[in-house]
Amino acid sequence: MNILKQASLTLRLVKLKRFFGSLFYPLQRDYLERRCYTHQTLEAVEEIGNIEKAEPTKRGGHFYFEEIDLEICFLSAELVQVDWRPGIPPISYAISHHDWAGVEVTFQERENAWVVSSTKLKVIVDADGRLEFHNGLGQTLRKELPPQRRAKLSRQIKSEGWVHQAQLRSHEHIYGLGERAAPLNLRTSADKGKPRTYRMWNYDAGGIYGPGTDPLYLCIPIYLSLHKEGSYLIFYENSFPANFSFQALAVAEFEGGALRYYFTAGSPTQLLEHYTELTGRPPLPPRWALGYHQSRWGYEKEAALQKAAKGFETHDIPVSAMHLDIDVLDGFRAFTIDPDRFPHISELAQELAAKEIRLITIINPGIKADRKNKLFQEGRAQDVFCKLPNGEPAIAPVWSGFAAFPDFTNPQARHWWSRQYEYLLDLGITGFWHDMNEPGVFVLWGDPSLPPYSTRHFMEGRGGDHREAHNFYGLLQAQAAYEALCEYQPQQRPFIVSRSGWAGLQRYAWTWTGDIETSWAGLRQTIPTVLNLGLSGIPYSGSDIGGFKGNPSAELYLRWFQMSCFMPFCRTHSANNTKPRTPWSFGEPTLSIIREFLRLRDRLMPYFYTLAWEATQTGHPLVRPLFWADSEDSNLWNVEDAFLLGDALLVCPIVEEAATSRSVILPKGHWYNFWDDTLIKGGRQINLETPQDQIPILVKAGSILPMQAEQQLMLQLYPPIEKDCQGIVYSDAGDGYGEWRLDKFQMRRNSKELELSWEEQGNYAFPYESVQLHLHAVAAEQAWMDGTEVDLKGKVLECNRFQQVRFEGI
Ligand code: NOJ
Repeated sequence: MNILKQASLTLRLVKLKRFFGSLFYPLQRDYLERRCYTHQTLEAVEEIGNIEKAEPTKRGGHFYFEEIDLEICFLSAELVQVDWRPGIPPISYAISHHDWAGVEVTFQERENAWVVSSTKLKVIVDADGRLEFHNGLGQTLRKELPPQRRAKLSRQIKSEGWVHQAQLRSHEHIYGLGERAAPLNLRTSADKGKPRTYRMWNYDAGGIYGPGTDPLYLCIPIYLSLHKEGSYLIFYENSFPANFSFQALAVAEFEGGALRYYFTAGSPTQLLEHYTELTGRPPLPPRWALGYHQSRWGYEKEAALQKAAKGFETHDIPVSAMHLDIDVLDGFRAFTIDPDRFPHISELAQELAAKEIRLITIINPGIKADRKNKLFQEGRAQDVFCKLPNGEPAIAPVWSGFAAFPDFTNPQARHWWSRQYEYLLDLGITGFWHDMNEPGVFVLWGDPSLPPYSTRHFMEGRGGDHREAHNFYGLLQAQAAYEALCEYQPQQRPFIVSRSGWAGLQRYAWTWTGDIETSWAGLRQTIPTVLNLGLSGIPYSGSDIGGFKGNPSAELYLRWFQMSCFMPFCRTHSANNTKPRTPWSFGEPTLSIIREFLRLRDRLMPYFYTLAWEATQTGHPLVRPLFWADSEDSNLWNVEDAFLLGDALLVCPIVEEAATSRSVILPKGHWYNFWDDTLIKGGRQINLETPQDQIPILVKAGSILPMQAEQQLMLQLYPPIEKDCQGIVYSDAGDGYGEWRLDKFQMRRNSKELELSWEEQGNYAFPYESVQLHLHAVAAEQAWMDGTEVDLKGKVLECNRFQQVRFEGI
């Protein structure tokens, strides 16, 4: 009884301290900010003036206006960098490609305009500063107004930003902007027809969010436009706070920095290729990461985790990883393990590893600012923290109390931070979950982060404030972690999940959609959020299955689970005061249905893994909007309750309570119903039944869908209606950087025959013991393998490796 009383007293004290922290800190923040910056500002808009000179450069042209100058630089024939100056030039944290091969560019003068072109793109610069972008076919893709420079003059700071505007066609659709709790098409009006404004400022939604909340944790100033003349992508390399809106004009208002952006044109697939050529492609994750993850805030002791792990065995449910939330930390301090609650973490990690379950732990960036905290003392001695103007570390309240924040824009701080992972890796922790890294802090009012004007950052030596560094914070923390894992475990691929980030995060980490509300609306929101992340170059994401806060009904949990089985990151997670949430928490029939879905995900692993490999080559997200299949069909531009997984699968989650059927608009071509092989003509809206143990899944006609069962590769053959199609399977050891192989299949259909040929590439030994070919929607009378007739059992052919198989009499 006494211990209980003591514990509840301590808890109340902690809560009280947290309350006073979040009251005191914003007072201090506002005081500091007032000293640096007064809101009685005078706003001045500067026009760019008339053009004075224009001259060609090696890759484009340089244009000198009265007040401003402009440089157009083709990085490749498809990608052009546009730089309006002056303004603080960005530090190229987002950019991974710097040595571009030579490119042929022409520079022509016309009356009152100049044309700078490559073989694929044309930029027209008007004497008044308007720009037009045309594709190789001469179609006008985008028309920009002359940018404006906006200076805000206050007592001590002159902050200069940019307003950049482009015309939008009435039917034009806009996607991207990183993580958004918005419709897929970002131009869709908010409630009551109010236009939406999207903020670029990574933001901790504070424990829960729902549709319409803006901003969220991971903003990226990138957007993709679709209209009848074509599609293009714009990425602004400017990390300052900004507002974007899309009405008759696309408006981007930056509060500082230079106006540097990149323009590229092409189909959505090409746009992502060009963009990720610039900002980097995602590395191949370890194969286990594509399995199921179980997490919760509230595994308070080792025994709780062990019990959950045991549940997976008892219920015969596959699980790849378990995540430990802040419960594992000693006094919520970063890089610690609570010795009382988790006294045998190493043994626990080993015990789980023996069951092929990896242990992931949370890391928050705040370092408790306490003289007794060694890490804080060390960080201080090495001068690695973000500072206030007086040179002292900027401190703000987080879980551990008042904390200092590593300044990841300082290479020394990144290095210092990297070194900390070794301790956890040695304990057997496999992966890391970066939370609260906007950075988020506790406040009773105002912005929940560091003071934007008064926090100073190193910025690779040139100095800058938090307005510029804020959006880079999660990205650079992920970079430091990624480098640490590569260094300490060179034989293993890093696994990092980061709540916040910026352009380029895909090079280091996955993300999840944070504290989404537990509701049907929350489930529905997840789809456009994940799709827009993918279109912003972040291919690996998913949401807390069942929502973060609150307790889903069995039906909501099941429907959320069924959807998440087709998302890249498949994890159940929930807040500390929720009821236990595991696949068996809801009893039958939920348990058996989830088991079947997770087994299906496991069987689809060769497909998931091949998509992951493709993403390393192309930057294509694994989960794609339906218009990916046919960007010219404007009926698909708004579909936000279904998605494609790769090119072969079209997944229609159930996002309405008690639904027994749902409709979907299919892209053109033909599709097979995954569950019963019915052939369905595409290019129209159809209605599909949705029993509780299924969600509609369609397979594109002309797909070779690789699946596995035990040691067998099962190629599911969905014949094309005519002609031929390809399929590939990527394999390697599943981790590390050893040999690999590609098995390439080609399926050809003619009137009565179906032919499948197989080519191999790479040195990794074929990892399957046997192969099964499974015909869908057609039956054959005879089968021939490399010229010899073989026994066909119904629609299934068991075989080994071959060069060619022919099914006759289909
Ligand atoms: C906020 C995160 O979004 C959530 O996933 C986590 O459980 C809590 N922080 C506690 O660490």
